[in-house]
Amino acid sequence: MLSPKSPLKNYLQSSNTEYLDEFHKSGEHFPAWHLEMLRDRERFEFYKSLIEHKVKDKVVLDIGSGSGILSYLSLKYGAKKVFSVEYNPHLQVVYSHLMAKPIAEGKAILLKMDAYDLLLKEFGDDQPEVIVHEIFGANGLSENVISVFKTLQLNGISERADILPRFSEIIIEPVYSEFYDTSFELEDFDGFPLSQLSNLGAWKSIDQSYELADKWTSSGEEKLLAVIDLMKPEMQDTYSVQFSNLEKYSHLRLSIRILGHNNVLISSHANKFSHWSNIYFPIPKWHRRSVPIRANFILSENEIYLQDFSQS
Ligand SMILES: C[S@@+](CC[C@H](N)C(=O)[O-])C[C@H]1O[C@@H](n2cnc3c(N)ncnc32)[C@H](O)[C@@H]1O
Repeated sequence: MLSPKSPLKNYLQSSNTEYLDEFHKSGEHFPAWHLEMLRDRERFEFYKSLIEHKVKDKVVLDIGSGSGILSYLSLKYGAKKVFSVEYNPHLQVVYSHLMAKPIAEGKAILLKMDAYDLLLKEFGDDQPEVIVHEIFGANGLSENVISVFKTLQLNGISERADILPRFSEIIIEPVYSEFYDTSFELEDFDGFPLSQLSNLGAWKSIDQSYELADKWTSSGEEKLLAVIDLMKPEMQDTYSVQFSNLEKYSHLRLSIRILGHNNVLISSHANKFSHWSNIYFPIPKWHRRSVPIRANFILSENEIYLQDFSQS
C-alpha cells in the first residue's frame, strides 16, 4: 500500500515537476511517464466523454488499466462491474490502493496479467459488454494496440463488445524546424570517409516536449495515412501519401488522432503534462523539391517507419 504521506496527491495537484523527484526519492516505484499522463486533463476529458453514456449497467473490461482511472470512470457512470487488466506490478499496487473500495465491494476486479493471455473463462457469467482502453503508447502504436485487439478478437472477447475508443487515424503532416534541422559534421573514422555524409539532411532524432513545441512550423497539409478500426484490427503492411511540394519542410510528423463520439484526441496537441509525443521523420535534403512526391511507410504491428520517397 502507498503510505499516507505519499507525495502522489501533492504531485497530481502541483503545477511544477518538483514532486516527481520527491516521489522517486520516497522509494515508491511509480513510473514517471504515468504521472505525466494522469495529469493530462485533455486526455481525461476525452475519455470521460467516451465512457459516460456508454457503460450504465454494463460489464466493462479495461485493457491496460494502469492506476485505474478508466475503471473508476466506468463505475462512476454506472457500470455493473469492471475487470481491469494490468501487467505492470508497480501499477497493480497503485490500482489496488486507489480502487480499494470498489475492489472490496466486488465491483472492480484486477487481473494481474498480460492482455494477450486473456481468455473468456476469466469472466465467468459476466462477459464484457464494453471494452475501454488507452494502450496507444506515448507515440504511434508503441503499446501494440492493434495486435492486442487482434488477440482479443481471436479469443472471442471483443467481437460483441463496444470498443471505446474504436477508431483512430494515423496522420502525416510536413513540418519545418530550423532548430531540429541542424545537420551535424561527421568525422572520418580511421580513414573511413564518414565526413562525406555530413550535411545530407536533418539527422537529429527527436522526442517532442511541450517546451519545444513552438520550434515547429506546421504546413497545415495533413494527410490521412491509415484508419485503425479495432473491431477489424487487420492492417496493410505498407501505406503511402502524396505531397505536392516538400521544398520548405524538414520533417514529416506522424500523429495519432483518436476518434470519440463527437470529439477527437490528437497526439500532436501535447499539453504541459501530456505524455503524448509524435514521431518525426527527417526529409533528406534532396527530396525537398517543388515536385509531387510520395512518402512510403511500412506499418508493422507496433511501429510505423518511413521507408522511402518516390516521385509520382
Ligand atoms: C497508456 S497507459 C494507460 C493507463 C490507464 N488506462 C489510463 O488511462 O491512465 C497503458 C497501460 O496499459 C498497460 N499495458 C499495456 N499493454 C498491456 C498488456 N498487453 N497487458 C496488460 N497491460 C498492458 C501498461 O502497463 C500501462 O499501464
